[in-house]
Amino acid sequence: MSTHRAVTLASRPEGWPEASNFALKQIETLAPADGELLVEIIYLSVDPYMRGRMRDAKSYAAPIELGAVMTGGAVARVVESKSPEYQAGDIVVGDLGWQEKAVVPAKAVRPVDSSIAPISTALSVLGMTGLTAYFGLLDICDPKPSETVVVSGAAGAVGMIVGQIARLKGCRVVGIAGSDEKCDYLVDELGFHAAFNYKTVDHYRKKLAELCPNGIDCYFDNVGGPITDAVFMLLADRARISICGQISQYNNTKVEQGPRQLAQLIVHRAKVEGFLVFDYAERFPEGLNELAAWLRDGKIRYRENVVDGLENAPDAFIGMMQGDNIGKQLVRVKPE
Ligand SMILES: NC(=O)c1ccc[n+]([C@@H]2O[C@H](COP(=O)([O-])OP(=O)(O)OC[C@H]3O[C@@H](n4cnc5c(N)ncnc54)[C@H](OP(=O)(O)O)[C@@H]3O)[C@@H](O)[C@H]2O)c1
Repeated sequence: MSTHRAVTLASRPEGWPEASNFALKQIETLAPADGELLVEIIYLSVDPYMRGRMRDAKSYAAPIELGAVMTGGAVARVVESKSPEYQAGDIVVGDLGWQEKAVVPAKAVRPVDSSIAPISTALSVLGMTGLTAYFGLLDICDPKPSETVVVSGAAGAVGMIVGQIARLKGCRVVGIAGSDEKCDYLVDELGFHAAFNYKTVDHYRKKLAELCPNGIDCYFDNVGGPITDAVFMLLADRARISICGQISQYNNTKVEQGPRQLAQLIVHRAKVEGFLVFDYAERFPEGLNELAAWLRDGKIRYRENVVDGLENAPDAFIGMMQGDNIGKQLVRVKPE
């Protein structure tokens, strides 16, 4: 029997995830049936949404079963194809899990064109997080030239692309991130107009008022909590708020009591909308084409934080939840 290594969910976290919630196991490598592919995984994505899947609660997707392989997007090379659409050696991206090999239906993956950018970008700027930034900003906030756009979680995979797209649209862009190094990167390298470190600024509202003198027209929210409460107090009339993520709440064991600033939505006739990137699946080609063109023309930049070794995926995930990453957090399972 042929086997490969996989990271499984050993227990459900209470509060912050820990290494003991994961187990590294040797599991059977199945043979592909008709219409399926056997692939070897090269890059694995670790993402905040996985924290939700580790919880046994009703959400937009089913929880990961205890003992099951952790779910996650991955870039992989086809080893054996039982589908006319792919041949051995092709590079694909799909939901392949935290493991060294996978057997998947050919229809469940998409090809990766390695001539456009490094293949890892199929998990970052030219993948799920880039598309989240693209649709969550352009479709929901619809930013106009000279408007002020605030992005929380700004130095992460989604946030850094949001800010750059807003800059391309002619907006004033203000980022909020968790270290001075991250804030310097946003302003010096990515062209944000301003950024502040929420871990060292005491009064978010005062700081935002200083950086956004005309109010906030668009808010792309990756984090929720007190940062979002402060933004609500500075909305411009007809503001649009895109609720992408609420990472500050993901490890809470009980629902946080907020200051309830919803009256601000009445005062400023503002609009708040949550979204899931997969709602835009039919428009992914449009988003990917535009992101690839901006990347090719040097109009947007990206950064990836790569950790080596499948066995280090749990630490990479926990580190990303704690803010260790600048840009997209990836795990290199196998050299390219
Ligand atoms: N709606 C969708 O379809 C969709 C799709 C993808 C992602 N998302 C959401 O988008 C957000 C960003 O995802 P990502 O993949 O780009 O992750 P990411 O930003 O690359 O990584 C997570 C970042 O969150 C920040 N963070 C952690 N705890 C925080 C807290 N208490 N307050 C403020 N910031 C905190 C950390 O940076 P700091 O150093 O700045 O704290 C960390 O680097 C997440 O909320 C995720 O769930 C939604």
